[in-house]
Amino acid sequence: MSRLVVVSNRVADPQDAAPGGLAIALEEALQRQGGLWFGWGGKLCDQSEPQLSISQWDAVTVATTELHKRDHDSYYSGFCNNVLWPVFHNRLDLAAFDPVFYDGYQRVNRQFAQQLLPLLQDDDVIWVHDYHMIALAAELRALGCQQRIGFFLHIPFPPLVTLSAVPQHKALMQALMAFDLVGLQSRQDLQHFESYVLAQADGRISHRHHYRVHGEQTRCEVFPIGIDAHAFAALTHTPQAQQVQSTMTQAYRQRRLVVGIDRLDYSKGLPERIHAFRDLLERHPEHRRSATLVQIGSPTREHLQAYADIRSEFESLCGAINGDFGELDWMPVRYIHQVLTRAQLAGLCHSAAVGLVTPLRDGMNLVAKEFIAAQNPDDPGVLVLSRFAGAAEQLQEALLVNPYDAHSTADSIDQALQMPLAERIERHQKLLARIQTEDVHWWCQRFLQALGQCQPAVQRKP
Ligand code: G6P
Repeated sequence: MSRLVVVSNRVADPQDAAPGGLAIALEEALQRQGGLWFGWGGKLCDQSEPQLSISQWDAVTVATTELHKRDHDSYYSGFCNNVLWPVFHNRLDLAAFDPVFYDGYQRVNRQFAQQLLPLLQDDDVIWVHDYHMIALAAELRALGCQQRIGFFLHIPFPPLVTLSAVPQHKALMQALMAFDLVGLQSRQDLQHFESYVLAQADGRISHRHHYRVHGEQTRCEVFPIGIDAHAFAALTHTPQAQQVQSTMTQAYRQRRLVVGIDRLDYSKGLPERIHAFRDLLERHPEHRRSATLVQIGSPTREHLQAYADIRSEFESLCGAINGDFGELDWMPVRYIHQVLTRAQLAGLCHSAAVGLVTPLRDGMNLVAKEFIAAQNPDDPGVLVLSRFAGAAEQLQEALLVNPYDAHSTADSIDQALQMPLAERIERHQKLLARIQTEDVHWWCQRFLQALGQCQPAVQRKP
């Protein structure tokens, strides 16, 4: 079996009590087949050359590099999070197209390629992750790298008109074509990719899943990312999760819990969620004193203005709804701006009658899958899910909502709170079966198998 080399901006920290979905998924794959994980270690350097640090973590070698302060600003804060993240999440209004950002993006992708190349072995398979590293394969190829290189985009692929607002969209897409395989989360993402290739880049489909643009050919397919459903369900039995469950039972007694778990990101639809909850309390007063929304909004990218803005907007809405509807012994919204451990989150999901996952746009959204995994199959909670999350393509038995429409989202929360046990069980069984079958192992295997079938770039005929 070839060695697996994973490249991502962030490398998971084995000590981290609350790693994100991406970190968890990749750790699974690397531990199973052994390999190298290369990425940014979170350190900045000033004048000196960025240093590599290498450590061993069970079967995985972890190699991390440093970034120059100015590169971090233009690459991570700039092109990644002020251009690609807002544009790919349909928020052109939040994008800032400063040409300095793209220069930094190219410099960091080149730096990664230069530092990674000497660590590679001939039969390695390289798997690059997410929007931070779209230019990496092109940079590696320019240095003579001949190994297979795959790319997985964890966030949505935007529609043609939105993507073409990025001044460097042609160079970006040209660089993307240097990967042997491009993986996307949803069929809708693939449609967007295809329409760009055919209509904007004058490309063509050479055969099934293969796209040719200006002499470059890549394979592009849908690989919806999954979770380790059994491992997440097992977390509900840990002491930390059970502590959360007993706290919730004591604190809320007969009340029904509606739970939201998100990074405090403008793509997650958090203000819209409060509008919907307000609408629920206004039009369905029977839920007053009865339903409580527990919303975890964990801190994220706090140095960026758009994140400071969404935080103050969201917090002011939470204050207003609590002021308007709260009573001495009941508050409609309990908001926590902290990071909880995964065991605590599993306990919280297990205690909830309703899971609210209502992003305005999301590549997949693994919280939706974790909510399902954490339910008691004999008395499961109901998932209310945005149709604009990639997960909606797989999780059709959830109550699918348009998060921009507060009225209908409120009606779906009401429906979820009133749903008879038999219907809850029927929906949950189907959802659970799907996330158990299409889990993180299935995702990794399908991607790596498809990458293994690709002809390495050097052997491809023009
Ligand atoms: C999303 C992205 C990941 C990213 C994570 C946290 O899930 O797809 O690539 O690592 O957000 O964002 P951060 O900017 O803190 O890495």
